[in-house]
Amino acid sequence: MTRSLNISGIAYGGDYNPEQWPEEVWAEDMRLMTEAGVNMVSVNIFSWALLEPSEGVYDFSRLDRVLDMLYTHGIAADLATPTAAPPAWFFRSHPEALPVDRDGRRLSYGSRQTFCPSSPAYREAALRVARALGERYADHPAVVMWHVHNEYGCHNAECFCDTSAEAFRRWLRARYGDDLAALNDAWGTAFWSQWYYDWDEILPPRATGAVPNPTHRLDWRRFCSDELLSLCTAEREVLAEAAPAVPATTNFMVMYNFDALDYWRWAPELDVVSNDHYLRSTDPESEIDIAMSGDLVRSLAGNRPWLLMEHSTGAVNWQPVNRAKTAGELRRNALAHVARGADGIAYFQWRAAKAGAEQWHSAMLPHAGTDSVIWRDVVALGADLKALAEVRGSTGTAETAIVWDWDAKWALELPSQPSESIRHLELVRAWYEPLWRAGVAVDFVRPDADLSAYRLVLAPSLYLVDDAGAANLTAFAERGGTLAVGFHSGAVDENCHVRLGGYPGAFREALGVRTDELFPLLPGETVGLDAGGTGSLWSERVRPDGAEAVASYTNGPLAGVPAVMRHDHGTGTAWYLATLPDPDTLATLLERVRGEAGVRPVVSGVPEGIEAVRRRGPDADYLFLIDHRGDGAEVPVSADATELLTGKRLEAGTVTVPPGGVVVVREITTGPTGRS
Ligand code: GAL
Repeated sequence: MTRSLNISGIAYGGDYNPEQWPEEVWAEDMRLMTEAGVNMVSVNIFSWALLEPSEGVYDFSRLDRVLDMLYTHGIAADLATPTAAPPAWFFRSHPEALPVDRDGRRLSYGSRQTFCPSSPAYREAALRVARALGERYADHPAVVMWHVHNEYGCHNAECFCDTSAEAFRRWLRARYGDDLAALNDAWGTAFWSQWYYDWDEILPPRATGAVPNPTHRLDWRRFCSDELLSLCTAEREVLAEAAPAVPATTNFMVMYNFDALDYWRWAPELDVVSNDHYLRSTDPESEIDIAMSGDLVRSLAGNRPWLLMEHSTGAVNWQPVNRAKTAGELRRNALAHVARGADGIAYFQWRAAKAGAEQWHSAMLPHAGTDSVIWRDVVALGADLKALAEVRGSTGTAETAIVWDWDAKWALELPSQPSESIRHLELVRAWYEPLWRAGVAVDFVRPDADLSAYRLVLAPSLYLVDDAGAANLTAFAERGGTLAVGFHSGAVDENCHVRLGGYPGAFREALGVRTDELFPLLPGETVGLDAGGTGSLWSERVRPDGAEAVASYTNGPLAGVPAVMRHDHGTGTAWYLATLPDPDTLATLLERVRGEAGVRPVVSGVPEGIEAVRRRGPDADYLFLIDHRGDGAEVPVSADATELLTGKRLEAGTVTVPPGGVVVVREITTGPTGRS
């Protein structure tokens, strides 16, 4: 049973680490949190060493005071298990719990997120501290949620030690039904003399002299994700025993920072899905990254609301350059997450640290104190979120889905591919961008998802797909949907075995094409397209086998060969993009594809640069309009709508989006003029 978060309105707050400060400061924290409208904070995230000064000996006094104080001030606590930062004393008695890297070096303690996921001593210690917390605080009135660990998979998700080797073998035995012949077959070990005669011969993919075995590496990644997940669910269980009614979350980081976890397997294990998102200082259009992240997280949550557990008010100290946010960006960023389904907005961290590894990271309360732009923005955001309370619980409305699969991503990015320039996230983003610019709502789905709610399904990068996933996607087109597939998709099965008989293996028939040889392009190389524009990254000698050519190459070894194809399949349509068209060409193409599929933007006629997103509640739609370009706009809305941030009725049937600003319009959908 999924337990839900019992907090009213939109949650607002951040990581609160008062242990860094003398207690005199806490009173000011409470006063300022109240001023900013903070209603939930995450506490105790990395506090293990102070909470358990030596094995089995706890000092709860500080945390007691923190939780009591929060409760007195009406601020809820998302109480974390501190297991992402084991203390020095633990490693002194259990040096074997420190992780070993691929090259065989054992790492040292002195930072955080450094432990062997398979270490029995670590598991025991983590569950012990989780149990102690659960038992002590199960009934504390401030505690509304358990925050299990912190960003599993961040920094080190892998350990190559002998204990991990044993755990890997156990996992493999389960996967292959204790059948070593099945593993040898799946891994293709007849090649390069890699045959295993005994389970004990199998090692983690440690550093070796030449190209590693791809399936070995892929199974290792699956194992590492599962190994961490088993730690997470074990903590969750211990907490649930103590406090059956309190929901549990753990914070994901779905986008780019690390990709160690198969979040499709993780999300169903949690009551509340949370995500962390940080802007990349090198991305000139981070608003697209935020949108894509939000759509992916909402989809992981089953189109239910989720929480933004961490982002930044400004500088992010692990970026090469700690960029500050521009005027209005803090607000646009936060409300863009809400637009994509976040029912909570939180930051790392509440008060900027003066010491330690993150002293140059921004916070809600900056080093400069309250006489600062960031503080004023933080207070203003608190008021905005309060005004959006009724949005809570509303969901997305997409008719378009993009296929996203961690197995496919991991497999594509293994060494020894036809091209090492192909990156899953970059391809998905390339296809997502024109949809974002056109204001088209998008969900993400696994290949085997129920697709009945969608008109259009896009698979920009699906190198690996199993038979069930491929059948599901092609059946979608067969039954009248529109499917568009990107190059080098359907190439291998779940064991990384090439699907024989011509590319793109699993999708050949549905796409009505057959390729006999791949011609990946060099970095920076482009090839002309007769329908206009160019292609990059990839080309292939494809022969239509029922499909019609929509665009063909104009030059190079494949001049005259189709690059983009369209195929009537069953009662639907399947498109194949055998290259990466330049952004304008891709946008034009996807406009045609979605036009044929009958997919419309969230609001027609919204000027470019204004992001339009709709959340749907039982009685009203909430239209978010966010101006990223700074020109402002006048956008038509339904009669009798209300702008929630100002509370103004929009009697004229339009809303004004101020330059760089955000508006949220409630449009009533029940009654004679509404949806129902
Ligand atoms: C996150 C982490 C936080 C903090 C933050 C800084 O990855 O969970 O504890 O370090 O980064 O951006």
